[in-house]
Amino acid sequence: MADDTTDTKSSNQMWGGRFASGPDAIMEEINASIGFDKKLFAQDIRGSIAHATMLAHQGIISTDDKDKIVHGLNTILSEIESGNFEFSRQLEDIHMNVEARLATLIGPAAGRLHTARSRNDQVALDFRLWVKEELQKTERMLTGLIAAFLDRAEEHAESVMPGFTHLQTAQPVTFGHHCMAYVEMFGRDRSRVRHAIEHLDESPIGAAALAGTGYPIDRHMTARALGFREPTRNSIDTVSDRDFAIEFLSIAAIAGMHLSRLAEEIVIWSTPQFGFVRLSDAFSTGSSIMPQKKNPDAAELVRAKTGRINGSLVALLTIMKGLPLAYSKDMQEDKEQVFDAAESLELAIAAMTGMVRDMTVNTARMKAAAGSGYSTATDLADWLVREAGLPFRDAHHVTGRAVALAESKGCDLAELPLSDLQAIHAEITDKVYDVLTVEASVASRKSFGGTAPSEVRRQIAFWRARN
Ligand code: ARG
Repeated sequence: MADDTTDTKSSNQMWGGRFASGPDAIMEEINASIGFDKKLFAQDIRGSIAHATMLAHQGIISTDDKDKIVHGLNTILSEIESGNFEFSRQLEDIHMNVEARLATLIGPAAGRLHTARSRNDQVALDFRLWVKEELQKTERMLTGLIAAFLDRAEEHAESVMPGFTHLQTAQPVTFGHHCMAYVEMFGRDRSRVRHAIEHLDESPIGAAALAGTGYPIDRHMTARALGFREPTRNSIDTVSDRDFAIEFLSIAAIAGMHLSRLAEEIVIWSTPQFGFVRLSDAFSTGSSIMPQKKNPDAAELVRAKTGRINGSLVALLTIMKGLPLAYSKDMQEDKEQVFDAAESLELAIAAMTGMVRDMTVNTARMKAAAGSGYSTATDLADWLVREAGLPFRDAHHVTGRAVALAESKGCDLAELPLSDLQAIHAEITDKVYDVLTVEASVASRKSFGGTAPSEVRRQIAFWRARN
């Protein structure tokens, strides 16, 4: 810290560069949030109009002053929207920028707007409104992504592909079924979004600095005017709480994780080795040196965005950790994390929705791969249980020997002659060949939630009704 005897010149040399003008410049830079919280202008103005209207209704300010305030705020709204507003960093944040401009526009009446409120409840309000709108937007975008998957699932309810565990061929499934797995995942994300909207649907305005106010305000009136279900109940918690932002980030992190798994599958599926899907040109790029290449850049970037979103979640959890009640300036660092994560999430959902809608599915490649890797071995074991009465463990053993034999002969299970199979187990008949095809395998899996086309269509109908 500079003491009285430090002359400005030597201080300047010490700080240098952009802080050449000394402590004032440093303070302004660390303190100001206008660079990012100007994004909250519409919410700030909407909140102030509701607050002023309530103040007048309660007789705390005159109707005349309220009218001037509301008119001035609407002028500011259009100034900002049309790019004719000069934001000042000296005025720190969006709240003070708007209030200062209001004073210029309407004079002393502007000073009455801040009666019975503080920037602490004001920022809690603005940010909550913003996050609520973002959640609503996320809900709509997830609905669009789910719709894209439902269409692809319907189209491919019967298309067989290999199902994987450990990324090793496991059992044949349908591509429609695989698509419906993502519908379940994004459906859960959407219900988390809906719960978060319910959680945050309480109005902070009127909590004032932290203790409430002695003015006869009506918090139910402002809550209603701003579209909240009710006002928050504890003024201290109200100005201390950023759970709504953390919930948004948690939801974004989980949805981002889901999107990254989809992105990764698309990266794998679009390799020439797999060849299950072909991305449209819109979502891929060529290589500057290798003319044959088509890179799944958009999917890779979606995969990476997850890292950013996780970073934001951890950042805000860490910012809030250990903060004493009530408001601390630390909390100003909440916004950039949420804004950045929201932008990443929106972009990721939009990109994946486009990719899912646009990609060409190569059903022939999928089908060929579905039959390789002895994917119907479980069907053979199940046949032995059903038709020859073997306990499953014994059937598993018998099947293992059949797979080993096929492997040594370099053929598929269905290509083993009956005599070979009977040498392994005498009760095997030629009926077994009916279950060794991939189509028979998937069609047999009719258990609730299973991969049979009839079940997949049931799942699709269920989701269509709720999407
Ligand atoms: N810009 C501040 C923030 O974003 C607004 C609240 C400031 N409150 C205060 N008492 N300094 O958190």
